[in-house]
Amino acid sequence: MLHQNIKENTKEAHQTLEGVVVRQLKSVRSNADYADVLKNFYAYFNTVEKAIAPFITSEVLPDYAERRNSSHIKADIEELRGTTDTLPEAVAPQVNNALEALSALYVLEGSIMGGPYIVQMLNKYGITQGTSFFSGYGEDTGKMWGVFTAVLNKYGEDPATHERAVAVANETFSRFGDVFAAATV
Ligand code: HEM
Repeated sequence: MLHQNIKENTKEAHQTLEGVVVRQLKSVRSNADYADVLKNFYAYFNTVEKAIAPFITSEVLPDYAERRNSSHIKADIEELRGTTDTLPEAVAPQVNNALEALSALYVLEGSIMGGPYIVQMLNKYGITQGTSFFSGYGEDTGKMWGVFTAVLNKYGEDPATHERAVAVANETFSRFGDVFAAATV
């Protein structure tokens, strides 16, 4: 199934990005520092959401409107008394159809799985505000992930499409890394 294939073949890209994000979080000392990290998330998620929007119709993913999105990141930044007026540059992967859009969305939706670890790290540094985005779907996380991966598998029924889907997912990971790299120069 496509989900298994993408999971296995993006492991390295996930590990690399996780390392970058953990490093960023480890340097957080204040709400303002955390808001800066969130600005990277906002810039990228908002850009990818715009790129995939034409393809993720309610027919493709009926509960898309109920899913966590970059508006939650914006709300968190504002709770931390930050703004989204100036943002780092972010480039979305090129997507041309529903399957490619779902492959990019795989990376955004999957990031919810790391959320509890991120909230835990932040709490350790005394940060307790602005964590709605990383709290994901709470106890519904498993269910929401199951619904999403079933749709991904359905659109990726033809194994001939897998290579391109994996490439889009890997590009979605790596272009997010680019945002952090540019921001820390
Ligand atoms: C501190 C940073 C992060 C940590 C500690 C972390 C941790 C994890 C863990 C433990 C899982 C596995 C959950 C499970 O199998 O039950 C997971 C899955 C995943 N994470 Fe992360 N993650 C982090 C950041 C990110 C980011 C920034 C993204 C993407 C923007 C991301 C994308 C994904 C994806 C797509 C999966 C799903 C893999 C699959 O089952 O297909 N993660 N993460």
